[in-house]
Amino acid sequence: MSQDKTATTDAVPILTGAGAPKKLHIKTYGCQMNVYDSERMAEAMGPEGYELTDDPAQADMVLLNTCHIRERAAEKVYHELGRLRPLKEARPDLKIGVAGCVAQAEGEEIRRRMPLVDLVVGSQSYHKLPAMVKAVDAGKKPVDTEFPLEDKFDHLPERPSTTRPTAFLTVQEGCDKFCAFCVVPYTRGAEVSRPAERIMGEANKLVAKGVREITLLGQNVNAYHGPGADGDWSLARLVRELAKIDGLERIRYMTSHPNDMEDDLIAAHGDEPKLMPYLHLPVQSGSDRVLKAMNRKHTASEYIALIEKIRAGRPDLVLSGDFIVGFPGESDQDFEDTLELVRRVNYGMAYSFKYSARPGTPAAERKDLVPDDVADARLQRLQALLGEQQRACQDAMVGRECTVLVEKPGKLEGQWVGKSDYLQAVHLRGEGLAPGVMARVRIVSAVRNSLHGELI
Ligand code: 5AD
Ligand code: SF4
Repeated sequence: MSQDKTATTDAVPILTGAGAPKKLHIKTYGCQMNVYDSERMAEAMGPEGYELTDDPAQADMVLLNTCHIRERAAEKVYHELGRLRPLKEARPDLKIGVAGCVAQAEGEEIRRRMPLVDLVVGSQSYHKLPAMVKAVDAGKKPVDTEFPLEDKFDHLPERPSTTRPTAFLTVQEGCDKFCAFCVVPYTRGAEVSRPAERIMGEANKLVAKGVREITLLGQNVNAYHGPGADGDWSLARLVRELAKIDGLERIRYMTSHPNDMEDDLIAAHGDEPKLMPYLHLPVQSGSDRVLKAMNRKHTASEYIALIEKIRAGRPDLVLSGDFIVGFPGESDQDFEDTLELVRRVNYGMAYSFKYSARPGTPAAERKDLVPDDVADARLQRLQALLGEQQRACQDAMVGRECTVLVEKPGKLEGQWVGKSDYLQAVHLRGEGLAPGVMARVRIVSAVRNSLHGELI
């Protein structure tokens, strides 16, 4: 999956168990699913007496929840582990754990490279974290990168009360698509959908706790086909059932593959008001030759036709995407085809990357590499175009009325920040604002990464 590609985030505060609280610092890399996993790991450690701290120097345990999607993501983890060395040397009882996709992919290798690591827990095993921490206390250095058959979600404690009006909810994990560049099928394993009832139960509880917006997460979320009481549910069915929950105002999902955009989901974009008009639908390249080499299994024109079909039902849909430049063998013309696709589709938001070879993936075997300077120049041109489109999309909001779900106080006194239906950050002021309020707002100005609105 995708999205916040480089940023790190800290998990939310948690309820603590009995005894003197110990401090846990979690640093999260990569996608929203890791953000969600970090929250669940924090919750798993709550009953063990751990509460979160933002400060690694205060922590009894530091967990890095890692991302392996691109080379730099993995290297950052090793860099961060190096930075933790002085802390570990000063306090040998500090526990250091590596979780997530680097843990899954590298396992024992991490401890070989970084002996200061006490435990390695793969992305499917984090419900075992409390037991692993006890093993560390007993002098062991556990590594668990199994793909257990049982649903790890069964073994996690209830989600505690949340103070935020938005929540992520993982509905599907893993991927069977095997795009030639991607490690996800190896790190997250085969596609598995969670049972529909569990998801409905979790969503109902979140809404009862004040959540107004749920983002359904999966590496391939639109391939969701979870068992329900009356047969398998598609993602569209799940969205429609979730939309019946009173108090839940907004539903989003990510990340999707174009080939899993079924008609029922396209229809839901047209007629389900709670399904937000924002869609992250990565295409990676606009060249049919490159798409084929990437094993994406669709052409550029099929993607464009799909976008037109979704927009026919929901003309204000804002599209977001992912792009890779410099895939092995990518020619100047292939890259021009990508620019042409971007011009035709018009993205409100997009992420673009220089290809990096990931060990174990088919593309990593290729010798026809694109020189670094060529890839850099292409990335710059693509980002300039995507940047223009993003600004145009923001500017087009000025003067329009929209609904903003207020999330938290802004940086300035009296200011609040929320999101528009199109996932744009909106700053506003006014009476009666608080997290969870759905405010009707007129957008008065657009600055680089956010909008400013006035209450109507
Ligand atoms: N090199 C560069 N970008 C990659 N992505 C995935 N694997 C690679 C790689 N090896 C990008 C894709 C994907 C996003 C999550 O990360 O664009 O959609
Ligand atoms: Fe990776 Fe392709 Fe699966 Fe997305 S669809 S997670 S890019 S293999």
